[in-house]
Amino acid sequence: MTTPVLHALGLRRRFRHPSGDVEVLRGLELSVDAGELVTVSGRSGSGKSALLALLGGFDEPDAGRVLLAGEPIDGAPPWHTCAVLPQALGLAQELTVAENVALPLRLRPSGDDVERRVGELLDLLGVAHLADRYPGEVSFGQQQRVALARAVSGRPKVLLTDEPTAHLDAASTPAVLGLLRRCAAEGAAVIVATHDDAVHAIADRRVRLADGVLSTV
Ligand SMILES: Nc1ncnc2c1ncn2[C@@H]1O[C@H](COP(=O)(O)OP(=O)(O)O)[C@@H](O)[C@H]1O
Ligand SMILES: [Mg+2]
Repeated sequence: MTTPVLHALGLRRRFRHPSGDVEVLRGLELSVDAGELVTVSGRSGSGKSALLALLGGFDEPDAGRVLLAGEPIDGAPPWHTCAVLPQALGLAQELTVAENVALPLRLRPSGDDVERRVGELLDLLGVAHLADRYPGEVSFGQQQRVALARAVSGRPKVLLTDEPTAHLDAASTPAVLGLLRRCAAEGAAVIVATHDDAVHAIADRRVRLADGVLSTV
């Protein structure tokens, strides 16, 4: 039996609100293998983003744990292990588009030629002409593609993406879906929170988050 790359066991997460606490995750279980692309659906507010924050080590569960390649995570793991594309993107505003995408490769050389890898990813996503602009100088949909290029440039073992097609026009969506599939084909465990049926259509497995737990769709 192979060890799943990502394994979440019994995750619980409660948030405090003035109007009363909300227990968003209630003993959630998820196991994803290398090379597998899993989509997570669920209504708005069901806890998809909260789940990705826990899986990426940006938030801590009240109970349960997350294992990466069998090891417990302790804080946010390095980008080459687990890359996250959050809903808010998190691009460095003082770096150009190309510098943002190169960042994981500069922090930890992967053996790739940096210029070539960055150019290839920007080209694939149709934003190569924006390489020298700053994030604030391009549209949100274009920033979303730049953030995806940055997330995957360092060839992470786990890729967590939150609504990666939410701000894209229909013409840009196939390239994003193609890249997500390619990451899985290259061995990454890919988890995508999404409302988009076009993303669910390329999944190996679909799960739905409701009442704090996942069920297979
Ligand atoms: N950091 C936080 N502090 C307080 N409440 C939060 C926080 N993050 C999420 N929540 C609450 O958890 C619920 C799930 O939110 P979220 O994970 O963003 O849902 P989704 O991504 O499925 O739309 C919401 O009720 C939201 O208000
Ligand atoms: Mg969300």
